[in-house]
Amino acid sequence: MSAPVITVDGPSGAGKGTISHKLADRLDWGFLDSGALYRVTGQACLIEGVSWDDVDAVTEIARHLDVSFASAANGEVLVAYKGQDVSRAIRTEEGGRGASTVAAIPSVREALLARQRDFRQPPGLVADGRDMGTVVFPDAPLKFFLTASAEERARRRYKQLISKGESVSLPRLLEDIKERDARDSSRSVSPLVPAGDAIVIDSTATSIDQVFDQVMQKVREKG
Ligand code: C5P
Repeated sequence: MSAPVITVDGPSGAGKGTISHKLADRLDWGFLDSGALYRVTGQACLIEGVSWDDVDAVTEIARHLDVSFASAANGEVLVAYKGQDVSRAIRTEEGGRGASTVAAIPSVREALLARQRDFRQPPGLVADGRDMGTVVFPDAPLKFFLTASAEERARRRYKQLISKGESVSLPRLLEDIKERDARDSSRSVSPLVPAGDAIVIDSTATSIDQVFDQVMQKVREKG
C-alpha cells in the first residue's frame, strides 16, 4: 500500500505554505512544495535564456529539471537549480509570474507529474499546491482547500514583504494576486478548483493558528 498523503490546495496567500509546513513537522512526514517546482522551471528558463512562451523548450527544461532541496540551519528551505542557489529569486513577484505562466502549459504539468508523485514516501507526505487533491494525488485520504479573499491575501503578502524590508505597493500586489488567480483558475489543465472531497477552509477572518487547529482536528478525526 502506498504511503498516506494529505493534500493542501488553494490560491497564493491563503496560508497553505505555513499550514502544510507545520502539519508536516507535527506529523514528522515529508513535504512537497509543488509551487517551487513550477517556480524553478520558470527560473531555469531565465537562466537558460528560454522564453516562458516557448512551449517546446520550456517542456524540455521541465523534463530534465535539475533541482534540489536542502534545509538550512535556520530552518529555511534552500532550492538549487543545477547546483546554483535560486531560493530567493524564485520567491520574487517575477518568480511567481514565471511559475504561473509555465504552469499553464499542459506538457510542463505532465513532465512534472511523476517527479511530484516520487515524493510519496513512508511514513507519509503533506503536499502543498493547486492540484494536489484533484490531479497529482486524487486518492489522498484527506484533502484540504484553503482560501481567503484576494484583499486579505494581498494584505498578508504586503506585511510579509514590508517586514523583509522590501518596498511594495498594496494596490499593485492586489492586482498581481487577482491576475494570478484568474490565470490559475481559467487554465484548461488542472485549474485551481477544490477537489469534490476536499474540506474547504476560508481563513479571511481567521488566524493561521486557528486554521491549523481546525486542520489538526480533522487529521485526528481521520485517525
Ligand atoms: O504555490 P506557489 O505560489 O509557489 O505557486 C506558484 C505558481 O505555480 C502558482 O501561481 C501556480 O500558477 C503554479 N502552481 C500550479 N500547480 C501547483 C503549484 C503551483 O499550477 N500544484
